[in-house]
Amino acid sequence: ARTAAVIPAAGRGVRLGPGAPKALRALSGTPMLIHAVRALAASRAVSLVVVVAPPDGAAEVKSLLDAHALPDRTDFLVVPGGDSRQESVRLGLEALPPEYDIVLVHDAARPLVPVDTVDAVIEAVREGAPAVVPALPLADTVKEVVPAAVPGDPEPVVATPERSRLRAVQTPQGFDRATLVRAHETVEDDVTDCAGMVERLGLTVVVVPGHEEAFKVTRPLDLVLAEAVLARRRL
Ligand code: C5P
Repeated sequence: ARTAAVIPAAGRGVRLGPGAPKALRALSGTPMLIHAVRALAASRAVSLVVVVAPPDGAAEVKSLLDAHALPDRTDFLVVPGGDSRQESVRLGLEALPPEYDIVLVHDAARPLVPVDTVDAVIEAVREGAPAVVPALPLADTVKEVVPAAVPGDPEPVVATPERSRLRAVQTPQGFDRATLVRAHETVEDDVTDCAGMVERLGLTVVVVPGHEEAFKVTRPLDLVLAEAVLARRRL
């Protein structure tokens, strides 16, 4: 089985504050996207990385990748993205050569995922799961609310799911390629992760242990944490 990684990196990153598209912002001097590509290419099983670039930024992303060394065994492709993460992933999938039968989808916004997590996801797909997600138990209790019409207004609580049964989902999510393609062809609802589409097909998605360092860089404080993790790794 050959494994490729699709990295959606076309988001603006509005929650991070004004500036370049999120994936192109620097983390300890290197663009977040480059960290993310290296994190996936660190797995010996991954021989192709497809980067889905901001629609107007494909040339810039291509030259960034040319300028930063990847392992010799790893090829990369750059394709322009779409209006949603889901659309960007679909465009990445369409660019995939036929010989790849396992696909990882990994957020550029999770630049520090350890290689052991990547390998654990691939292993579970190889063992037969059609879709695999790394995830962690929650520290916070989660409540379902009726969202306020005006942000900041009090919100009535509807339910409190039992925390021990909940998991916070990370990436890379791993898929049998044919399953993920079928999900994209048939599921029309908006979902925030690819595995959610596979669930809509009625297939079982399995969870493997995620990792603290696979957190998503979303808000300014996450940049501080990511740089601290990198500094600790360099000790
Ligand atoms: O916005 P969010 O943090 O959920 O984005 C997750 C990932 O999806 C990021 O790596 C982002 O660049 C990507 N994305 C994309 N195309 C979009 C929106 C988000 O590739 N239109």
